[in-house]
Amino acid sequence: MNLQKNAPIGVFDSGLGGISVLRELQALMPAEDFLYFGDDQNAPYGVRPEDEVLSLTRAGAERLFGAGCKAVVLACNTATAAAVVPLRALWSDRILVGAEPAIKPAIRDGHRKIGVLATSTTLSSRRFCDLARTLGGEAKIFPIPAPGLVELIEARIWSGAELENFLHGLLDGPISNGVDALVLGCTHYPFVRDAIDAVSGGLPLYDGNAGIARQTRRLLAEAGSLRDAKQGSVTLLECGQSADFFRLARELISTE
Ligand code: DGL
Repeated sequence: MNLQKNAPIGVFDSGLGGISVLRELQALMPAEDFLYFGDDQNAPYGVRPEDEVLSLTRAGAERLFGAGCKAVVLACNTATAAAVVPLRALWSDRILVGAEPAIKPAIRDGHRKIGVLATSTTLSSRRFCDLARTLGGEAKIFPIPAPGLVELIEARIWSGAELENFLHGLLDGPISNGVDALVLGCTHYPFVRDAIDAVSGGLPLYDGNAGIARQTRRLLAEAGSLRDAKQGSVTLLECGQSADFFRLARELISTE
């Protein structure tokens, strides 16, 4: 593999959610440059059929590789569920990292009734069903589809009564059924971790972001492609997104 050490790492999501992954990537690899593409023109992905998500994700990853990225991180569980297998088959010589609901760490911590909060497309995907079947012998998995939650997060509604009522509607049933941990299976959800924590009464919460960052670093290290510089940067890939998207994305990136 002939990868440029100084090329950026591409990070892809339907909108702002991937910035929660970008933060972990930056924390682990501060010397790297990142090119972030949030496809807010086509968000949300999580209510679209898988074939549409696949073609949007392919187009997004092509843009990032086309811009010279040495790796692309699908910082989106929905995009990963629909696209990571076909895109890896297509681009076997490229580094493509995916996101997966962090059920395994919850099982490792001893949880046996695990709620997985994610988009409808993620939870109905073959990839998720295979994962739930594989892990189903070790824990009971409760899929909790959350249509509408990404829209609230994209609108920067991260606290308050509207969000809490919405979360109660999603979580009260599974919690009364004995769920003992929640997996945040969408990269938007860590931004409302505090509200989920309050509404769930302090259930342990898991997300896969740190694992994605570790996997990205491992693959780049194996390819000899980690950057040696002191301080990296983040650039937003411009592709017709709304002014609000850029304002919020810059705000979120600069608060880290
Ligand atoms: N951030 C995406 C995920 O991790 C979903 C957002 C969307 O529905 O567009 O699943």
